[in-house]
Order: sequence, then structure tokens, then C-alpha cells
Amino acid sequence: MPQSATVDEAEHEKRLAAQAAAELVESGMSVGLGTGTTVAQLLDVLAGRRLRLRCVATSPRTEQAARALGLAVEEFGTIERIDLAIDGADQVSPDGWLVKGGGAAHTREKIVAASADRFVVIVDSAKPVPSLRPPVPLELLAFGLDSTLRRLRVIGPVRRRDVAPSPDGGVICDYLGPVEDPALLAGAFDAVPGVVEHGLFPPELVAEVFVGRGDMVERVPVIPRREATRPDRP
Ligand code: A5P
Repeated sequence: MPQSATVDEAEHEKRLAAQAAAELVESGMSVGLGTGTTVAQLLDVLAGRRLRLRCVATSPRTEQAARALGLAVEEFGTIERIDLAIDGADQVSPDGWLVKGGGAAHTREKIVAASADRFVVIVDSAKPVPSLRPPVPLELLAFGLDSTLRRLRVIGPVRRRDVAPSPDGGVICDYLGPVEDPALLAGAFDAVPGVVEHGLFPPELVAEVFVGRGDMVERVPVIPRREATRPDRP
């Protein structure tokens, strides 16, 4: 989106992306609901379609908003599979890597995305970027926090975010160093005990990105027919 774009324009683009993704949803489906302002638009559109759905929410915020709109939200444990998960993102790289967690919900979001047969990302035109940049959100276990932070700071600078713990008790931080190679960085985070989850989502998770741009929606396939390529996914 151009620098001069207004909040209204961004909201319009989010709405368009949400509407396009909502068209993928059919009655009888189990749907993973992400978190954030773009997902707020999705909830509104989905509720308006009055489909018979079983939904899983990635945050208490989304759960409350979805329920208030009349969507049926269930505990994750009561749904054995998720047909489709839809979520926003903070950044989308040209090769399909995402940065998520601006709203501190990335751990549950990644679990739901990984559990879904198809994960679709909805964004406004400010989110696609030529290359990923900091901050990269982190959720850390409270136990041994100082030790975990010391190990992480060998990778790069990390700052604790001034927000409440996650619904699972995790401490929210942001990595502020360079993000030159997302796969390498994701591996480095994964190797630090005490990192519950980080906000780098690999392209393998993502089926398609819907980008609202002006009055149009661009559909960018990342891994076409992802569900068909991973038949043995546990
Ligand atoms: C929540 O933790 C995030 O991962 C959001 O999905 C992401 O920040 C996108 O949010 P917006 O739709 O509000 O831009």
C-alpha cells in the first residue's frame, strides 16, 4: 500500500481479502480462526453467511468476538480435524514466509495452521514485503526466562514486550536482529530451550495468500494443493 494510504483504505483491503477467503468456507466445515484486525473482518463476513460451522479460535479475543457474532466456537480438543484455517499476517515475503505474532497469538495460530488441511492468509497490500524484517515475535516459557533470554541474545537483540502473558502463560518478546535467512533463524530459535514458539511461519504451512489491493484481491498460491502433498501428515 502506498505510504499515503489511509486506515480506511487498509480496512477496505482487509475486508476484500476476508470476503474472498470466506467464499472458500462451506457449510459443515471445521474452520480455524486466526487473530487480528483482518480476522475481525473475516468473522463479520462469515457470521453474515449463516453457515453451519465448527470453529476453533486462536485467541480469547477471537473466541469472544466470534461467539458474539453467533459463530459456534469449540474447544480445539473436541474437533478432530480442521478443514480450513484463515489468518492474517504482519509480513509476507515473496517466497511465502510469514511473520506473525504482532498480536502475541502466534503460538496458537501456528498450532491451528499446522493442523489445518489448508491454511489461507488474508492481508492488506502493506503486508507483502521484499524481505522480512524485525521484529519477530517470540513466546518464551516463564521458567528460566533469564537463561533463555541470554541464549537468544547470542542470536541477536531481544526485547521483552510490555504486554500480558499469553493465555498459556508464555512471556511475549520480540527479536530485533536481522532476518536474512528465515529458515536459518527459525532453526536457531527452535534450538533454544525455553522458546515456546516464534513468529516465523514457513511457506510449507501456507496454501495461499489473499492480498487486498485497492479494489481487487490478488490470490497468491504458495504451495498449491498443500493438502494433497502431505497425505501422511499426522
Ligand atoms: C496475531 O498474533 C498476529 O499473528 C496477527 O495475525 C497479525 O498480527 C495480523 O494482524 P492484523 O490482521 O491486525 O494486521
